[in-house]
Amino acid sequence: MLIEFKGKSVLVVGAAFDIGREIAASFAENGARVHACDLLADEVENIAGSHGEGCVSAGFCDVTCEDSVRETVQAAAGETGVDILIYVAGGVAGQSKTPIEDVTLEQWKTVVDRNLTGLFLFAKYLVPIMKKQGKGRIITISSRAGLATSLTGVQAYCAAKHAQNGLVMQLGQELAPYNITVNAVAPGFLRSSPATRKQWDGYTQEFRDAFAARLVGGRIGKPEDIASAVMFLASDQAEWISGQILPVMGGPL
Ligand SMILES: NC(=O)c1ccc[n+]([C@@H]2O[C@H](COP(=O)([O-])OP(=O)(O)OC[C@H]3O[C@@H](n4cnc5c(N)ncnc54)[C@H](O)[C@@H]3O)[C@@H](O)[C@H]2O)c1
Repeated sequence: MLIEFKGKSVLVVGAAFDIGREIAASFAENGARVHACDLLADEVENIAGSHGEGCVSAGFCDVTCEDSVRETVQAAAGETGVDILIYVAGGVAGQSKTPIEDVTLEQWKTVVDRNLTGLFLFAKYLVPIMKKQGKGRIITISSRAGLATSLTGVQAYCAAKHAQNGLVMQLGQELAPYNITVNAVAPGFLRSSPATRKQWDGYTQEFRDAFAARLVGGRIGKPEDIASAVMFLASDQAEWISGQILPVMGGPL
């Protein structure tokens, strides 16, 4: 099975850290023209340029701002459209386990906006373009926290990832007649960003060893594991898969 994206236009939203970067670079290495964006635009610049037969361009986007999302979609679509959207932005926004009575509304909204509302906004502005094209792919990075509970203990994160999965299923149904598939990849824990490296460093060695030992290969996940699953769902070979949540966590839930 040969998976390639020659001539395809891919928009990767949330590409500052390892998961988004790896996804952007992997699509480019397999021939795509990738536009990668993030709130931390300078971090995305690190992967801008040629990768094999493809290339990555970098830009700014705030997924919580409707104008910014609209402008990002317009810029990425240009004259050639966007074939594939990968929505990676999210995370816990620096928050940690807090009793529910002490969580502020602002904290709650920040996490929900990054993980859920941003995906809604990108779908809202990109779907009309994909409908005109007669096809499209939307893939979001959900989480194990969207299928069970979150190791972080952050209620808004768990709730937003569950809601993200619901949006994926609903849009999968709504957009199937337009040849647009909508799916999610749900990773288990990865040391892929400053926040998750800090989280991992906060665990005891005993916990870390036991955590890794129960997973395939006796190791925690790598960004490449996530990028491979994303590329499969974006490939021609996955054209009849939609509304699905694919867990990529080195084992069952
Ligand atoms: N690392 C893990 O263990 C893990 C596990 C499951 C799911 N995930 C999910 O994978 C994705 C990537 O996670 P990560 O750990 O690499 O990084 P992260 O969770 O720290 O951040 C994700 C990305 O979103 C960007 N972002 C945040 N707010 C934004 C905004 N308003 N506008 C634009 N971009 C914004 C960040 O700059 C970052 O690049 C996230 O959606 C996360 O929830 C991560």
